[in-house]
Amino acid sequence: MPAIVLVGAQWGDEGKGKATDLLGSSLDYVVKFNGGNNAGHTIVVGEGELAQKYALHLLPSGILTPTCTPVIGNGVVIDLAVLFEEIDGLEARGVDTSKLVVSASAHVITPYNRVLDKINERFLGSRRIGTTGRGIGPTYADKMSRTGIRIQDLFDENILRQKVEAALSFKNQVLAKIYNRRAVEVDEVVGELLSYVERLRPMVCDTSLLLKEALDRGETVLLEAGQATLLDVDFGTYPFVTSSNATAGGACTGSGIPPTRIDSVIAVLKAYSTRVGEGPFPTELLDEMGEFLRKTGAEYGTTTGRPRRCGWVDTVVGRYATRINGVTDVVVTKLDILTGLDTVPVCVAYDVDGVRHDEMPIGQSDVHHARPIYEELPGWWEDISGCRTFTQLPANAQRYVLRLEELIGARVSAIGVGPQRDAIIERHDMRPARSSTTPAPA
Ligand code: IMP
Repeated sequence: MPAIVLVGAQWGDEGKGKATDLLGSSLDYVVKFNGGNNAGHTIVVGEGELAQKYALHLLPSGILTPTCTPVIGNGVVIDLAVLFEEIDGLEARGVDTSKLVVSASAHVITPYNRVLDKINERFLGSRRIGTTGRGIGPTYADKMSRTGIRIQDLFDENILRQKVEAALSFKNQVLAKIYNRRAVEVDEVVGELLSYVERLRPMVCDTSLLLKEALDRGETVLLEAGQATLLDVDFGTYPFVTSSNATAGGACTGSGIPPTRIDSVIAVLKAYSTRVGEGPFPTELLDEMGEFLRKTGAEYGTTTGRPRRCGWVDTVVGRYATRINGVTDVVVTKLDILTGLDTVPVCVAYDVDGVRHDEMPIGQSDVHHARPIYEELPGWWEDISGCRTFTQLPANAQRYVLRLEELIGARVSAIGVGPQRDAIIERHDMRPARSSTTPAPA
């Protein structure tokens, strides 16, 4: 009954696709359990001239694996226009998307929440979060304040209308009286949402039950986080975070799979650090080294195209991610980007106003004031993109990985050494053993 959770260890964009590729054909279900179309993953399928690039923002990566059932869990917020745009785009390229299933309890990003996301940010001015502007935050806010619209509401026009009316009775006051904007018409919103109903209907089910039955049959379920640990609404650099739980705990609440059925937690850690949007980033490099990492690592956002902020790897963050997620395996990505440096700095602790912190400080101000304490490791010059075993790596690259492993407290099971799908070194098998045993009693 293997259920595997896959999370990002830093601020997102760690390259989770590398880990999914390794698990590949052993996966029966890939579940997106949090976030919405604020995520972005580029997936390359095929080799050489036949290679096709897909940029997905909402659909789970499993959509491209014919044997796999992609699932959008209850913890996700769905922009239906984006959902069908991505489905149509894939179908036009010959990808069969008919296995996709969507939770009846997932929330819908409404047109007014998209508007409010952008206006809120403008209103915050210098205190803005730097959101992706996709309506994610306001939709989760509605979920928590119990004024959200769920997928299941679309199948009952009366209920839908009542809920949209209730939400707009307040939001239109805010839009018109505070932001001086045009009020949103109930009919407009209801009409837009209903236009998707017939296409949506066959995809919708109780995804928690579906996944429970799959696990009982011994099938493999991958729960893939959007965003990452330091963007988690509870454990990230609040308030500069996303609005959902992007850590391993969120995999349970966002899918309906209980903690007792999770077998392993894989964290993806980029060999250096990046972040988009605002918020503290202790190892950020504002000099030519940051530019070197951005250029060499092609660090520009998949969803918004924004240049990513870049810096050295931070093992205070890595250790924190191990602890919060209960990490069993780490996949280090983009090690090749660090090739050609005399020394590679690794942040091992922070200095906060003269006091050393080996663990993440508990106060937001302390994180803002944190100055990295670096250990300088010797660099390597050899091209490592062809290495396929750990011992083929130059000694100093091996040393870098082993030191990371020691500092973050979890075994490094795979290392990405280039952009191609197979440019990866596997040190430990992360593929779960398939169980053919009889299902656990209900
Ligand atoms: P939101 O998720 O659009 O509300 O944005 C909140 C914060 O999370 C902003 O700093 C975004 O840049 C960041 N963010 C959201 N999604 C991603 C992602 O997939 N990768 C990296 N950062 C993200």
